[in-house]
Parts: sequence; C-alpha cells; structure tokens
Amino acid sequence: MMDLLIKEEIFKHLNTGINLQLFDSIDSTNLHCKRLAKINPQHGTLVVADTQTAGRGRMGRAFFSPEHTGIYMSLLIDSKRIKLSPSLLTVAAGVAVCRVLKKLCAIDAKIKWVNDIFVNNKKVCGILAENSGQYIIVGIGVNVSTAVFPDELKSIAGSVYPEGITRNEIIANIVNELHYIYMEDNSAKLIDEYKTCSCVLDKKISFVQNNKAYTGIATDINPEGNLVVHLDNGKFLTLGSGEVSLGSQSVIDKM
Ligand code: BTN
Repeated sequence: MMDLLIKEEIFKHLNTGINLQLFDSIDSTNLHCKRLAKINPQHGTLVVADTQTAGRGRMGRAFFSPEHTGIYMSLLIDSKRIKLSPSLLTVAAGVAVCRVLKKLCAIDAKIKWVNDIFVNNKKVCGILAENSGQYIIVGIGVNVSTAVFPDELKSIAGSVYPEGITRNEIIANIVNELHYIYMEDNSAKLIDEYKTCSCVLDKKISFVQNNKAYTGIATDINPEGNLVVHLDNGKFLTLGSGEVSLGSQSVIDKM
C-alpha cells in the first residue's frame, strides 16, 4: 500500500501547534522556508513535500529526493522564541531524528558528526540548518523506503524501512521531539544524549581541513557541539564544521 502524505494524519500525531504546508512537489522545502522568512515568517511553520526538484544538501551538494519514498521537511524557527541556544539546533535535529527512529521505528540509528544519520552503516538521513535573519530553517531529509539510488550514492545511502509506520507519523514525531528539545534550556542534557547516539566517538577518523589531511581519534563533543579530535601527531583539534570519515583511508579518496 502506498504510504501517502496526508495533512490530517500528520496533525493526528502532533503534540504541538504548527502551521503546515504540504506540497506534492517543490524545488526545496528549505528554499521555500527561506522565501517565507522574507515575506511572512511564522514561527513553527512546517513545510513538507513528497518530492523535491532541487533538494539541497550541505556543502553545495544536491539531496536526492524521489517521490513517495522519502521525507523532505523544513521547520521555520524564530530564534527568539526558543530556549535552547540556536547554534545547537542542528545537534537537536540529529537527536530528534535518532529518538524517533529508535523509539517509534525500533531502528538502531547512529549520528555521524555533525548530523548525518546512519543505519547499518548507510546514510539514511541528512540535516541542513540555514539562517535567514533571526529565523532558522531546519531541513531534514529521510530515505524512508527509497530502494533505488543514483550510482554515486549506491554504496553510501540506505533507507530506514520502518515496519508499519507511516511517513506522516515519522514527520509528526520528529517535530514533537525537536519541539521538546528546543523548548528546554538544557544544552548539557542534549549534548549527553547526542554523545550516546554518536558513531564517531572513540573511533579513528579522518578529515580534510584547508587542503590538509588529518587522522586521529574523536575524543569528545564539546558543549558547543564541536568535535574534539586527538590527532595522530599528538595535538588536539576542535572541529566546528565540515565532514569527517570513519577510519583513516577514505580521506585520501576525497583529496
Ligand atoms: C545533507 O545530507 O547534506 C543534508 C541534506 C538535507 C536535505 C533536506 S530535505 C528537506 C530540506 N530541503 C532541502 O532542500 N534540504 C533539506
């Protein structure tokens, strides 16, 4: 049976009041929120689409957004109306998705810093938070039952395949969890939970910074959500953004 996106079904599972805009197709739910932020910003606007024609990922990449099988959602948040530090919203979104996959879908999900969600070593979800003045747009894309990926994604992307759970329920639960987190002023608790979800802590990682390749052990997530790395050369480095790979080899492929 087709897992249709239905407004009433999303509302049925929501515990918080939101302004929902549901589209069959849109360029990008993040771009739409950015437009709203300029013309008619309303805190708690949720934009959801069944497919995106120009889905955006981090670092200028595209986000593969086929119809009927994924979740493409963006929440418009007024940074002045939340208790959590806005700079931790991206961490909050990762934790919210992880909670939902674990609790609602009984799936063992892990977060690869900063906020890629992995299941069985495959990326199933990406998060892109963007600013527009005092508004923050938290965009979340989940491969729910996408079976066919383009060649370049085949080895790294996977789907969640939740049994008996609809996209409507997952969307509503992600919003609920995110709302609980950002209405609480408790970043220490959030970072603790983030750490328990992390698949990079205490692992060998590699990354490129200013065209230089580094390897080391990811030792901590600091209170700002940055990754602390004990480099092989003995020094410590704190990463605020970017992308890391697990292991020491893959960084070489990226150069
Ligand atoms: C990444 O993996 O690099 C982040 C991907 C974020 C994708 C989501 S899908 C909904 C929202 N709209 C977009 O255009 N991007 C985000």
